[in-house]
Amino acid sequence: MTGGILCAGRLYCDVVFTGTPRLPTLGTEVFAEGVSLHAGGGAFITGATLVALGNGAAQFSVLPAAPFDAVVLQALAENGLSSKLCDVAPGGSDPQITVAIPYANDRAFLTRAAGDALPSLAAFDWRSFSHLHIGELSTLEENPKLIERARSAGLSISLDCGWQDAFRPEVRDLIAAVDVFLPNQRELAALRDVGVPEACAEVTVVKHGKKGARARMRSHSEWHHEVSEAVRVIDATGAGDAFNGGFLSAWLKGVQLQDCLRQGNACGAASVQCAGGVGGLASLPQFDTAAPSLH
Ligand SMILES: Nc1ncnc2c1ncn2[C@@H]1O[C@H](COP(=O)(O)OP(=O)(O)OP(=O)(O)O)[C@@H](O)[C@H]1O
Ligand SMILES: [Mg+2]
Repeated sequence: MTGGILCAGRLYCDVVFTGTPRLPTLGTEVFAEGVSLHAGGGAFITGATLVALGNGAAQFSVLPAAPFDAVVLQALAENGLSSKLCDVAPGGSDPQITVAIPYANDRAFLTRAAGDALPSLAAFDWRSFSHLHIGELSTLEENPKLIERARSAGLSISLDCGWQDAFRPEVRDLIAAVDVFLPNQRELAALRDVGVPEACAEVTVVKHGKKGARARMRSHSEWHHEVSEAVRVIDATGAGDAFNGGFLSAWLKGVQLQDCLRQGNACGAASVQCAGGVGGLASLPQFDTAAPSLH
């Protein structure tokens, strides 16, 4: 896959409940209208969005343990993501799943992150890729050598954040080493509390839910803002990861930041209108043929 995109991160099987009248509370039981299994995790949803926009992409993850690996392998194939670089989970591993409960235009997650996120970094020729996307900061913290490996093969690098109850101040150096950092507003606020500067990476892109998103170059003080169209929300799970796919597909083609934001918003908005993170891919508009860029 010459020039493709390597999508590295934790790969989950998402158990998505829909039509929940309220969130569960201790001692009571809630009956949902629906439940479905989906491949999940930032790297997968961003990768599937990149493929839907015409890019080549490969998943780089340890699969959830059986029987959930079958759901995920089928979704990788259906979404055109190569699974050649995925490893099976070591015997006896807990299944890596997330229970997602969408409610009141937001969602609550309960997750079991089991074992290593990634296979060995030495298992393949990095030069067959042009870009590395890392699905969550915790995976980079577990595998800081990802940066060196990617740079020595000439890859550009992007990184989503993902929520952590307690970010370590040391993540500042990891974030500063990537080209594009894509936290949501809540994550960025928590990072700033531990001293991470607002514009830490070469390009910082902040996602604001239904309000849209903003982006800024480290070398420029000006933020670009782009509002998102108002849509009916079915499930907001994975909206940020779908946004990443849209933004990066344009950015990698050298498109202006404003148009990268527009394509990101369109992908995020499409994603919230379906259960799971990749439901909205069939109806994605393309913006990344717009005028050549700043960078
Ligand atoms: N209700 C909505 N209406 C329109 N667009 C939306 C809505 N919610 C999200 N989006 C789009 O999706 C993008 C990402 O959403 P959000 O800010 O929730 O990311 P996130 O918190 O990282 O999501 P996740 O990590 O669950 O994937 C927004 O920047 C926006 O473009
Ligand atoms: Mg997110």
